[in-house]
Amino acid sequence: MTEQHFGPVTQWLSGMPKAELHLHIDGSLRAPRLLQLAAKHSVSLPYSSVAEVEAAYDFSDLQSFLDLYYLGASVLRDQEDFYLLMKDYLEVCRVQNIVHCEIMVEPQTYLPQGVELAVVLEGFDRAIAEAKSDWGQSVGLILSFLRHLPEADCIAMLKAADPYREHFCAIGLASAERDFPPANFQALYREAAERGYALTAHAGEEGPPSFIRDAQQLLSVTRIDHGVRAVEDEDLLNQLAADRVPLTVCPLSNVRLCVYENMSEHRIFDLLDRGLCVTVSSDDPAYFGGDLLENFAALESDLAMTKDQALLLVRNSFEAAFLPIAEKIALDDRLQDYLARNP
Ligand code: ADE
Ligand code: ZN
Repeated sequence: MTEQHFGPVTQWLSGMPKAELHLHIDGSLRAPRLLQLAAKHSVSLPYSSVAEVEAAYDFSDLQSFLDLYYLGASVLRDQEDFYLLMKDYLEVCRVQNIVHCEIMVEPQTYLPQGVELAVVLEGFDRAIAEAKSDWGQSVGLILSFLRHLPEADCIAMLKAADPYREHFCAIGLASAERDFPPANFQALYREAAERGYALTAHAGEEGPPSFIRDAQQLLSVTRIDHGVRAVEDEDLLNQLAADRVPLTVCPLSNVRLCVYENMSEHRIFDLLDRGLCVTVSSDDPAYFGGDLLENFAALESDLAMTKDQALLLVRNSFEAAFLPIAEKIALDDRLQDYLARNP
């Protein structure tokens, strides 16, 4: 959907300062850049044109997506690649007025290619520094672990990241959920808590509501990535609402990965209406057909999102951010300023 086709609520949102809290940087690698880097490093891929790449992005579940996601990320090899990847996404932030973003970085993905964390962060740092100085972009990085790998490997990566501790605001847990429950990662989260990281994890995307509860109780997370399957458990819903535990919901992702058959079945506004701290993010925009605004546009076109609902989703994203309170207040001031000019 192009901007001129957005409905009135999404057009109003487009100029509004917003936050995106659930974005895998590898999921922002678009087809043209993917093909360019594959050619640069002579990585052979099963596609040779943008159209072929996009035709392959037809997923039946999370695993069918992850297979192509890790294949795509395998073209990232040197500092310049990581610079370009981050620069491309931060340019989306500039265009869509995503003034604060929290980005998942998954260093274990690059290890089979022999790429060390130092190389990754050198590239990312350069792009982030430019975006900060060029237009004041606010960025947090989340050190995200791959739950299909053994916990010992995740802990080894956590320790390898110790020299770069100040680069990250939080840790996260991603990849295949169903067979890899939160209970498997208690030592990892204990180690991360000792290091002072904020804690989040994917839970209740494909996995059952009990994984959301376990992520909270066993891993001490204060935020849940996805969490949409909470709708199946009344007690859990009440507790998440009472505690204002943020959910980073990714509507286009949920439809493309067949969590819901279509957007009209998505329960995001049930969650919001029950008082949960629901936010909207794009997850893997290159794979799921849209960035943050396109996610809002789908909520407007298929679920009749109102201005009040949209504003609440944006306010929640500021509340849910891993930011010091003074920075949250500054975001809110910018929002008030926008609303005064664009009621
Ligand atoms: N890694 C990238 N996108 C993901 C998702 N939607 N769920 C779990 N892991 C992911
Ligand atoms: Zn995700």
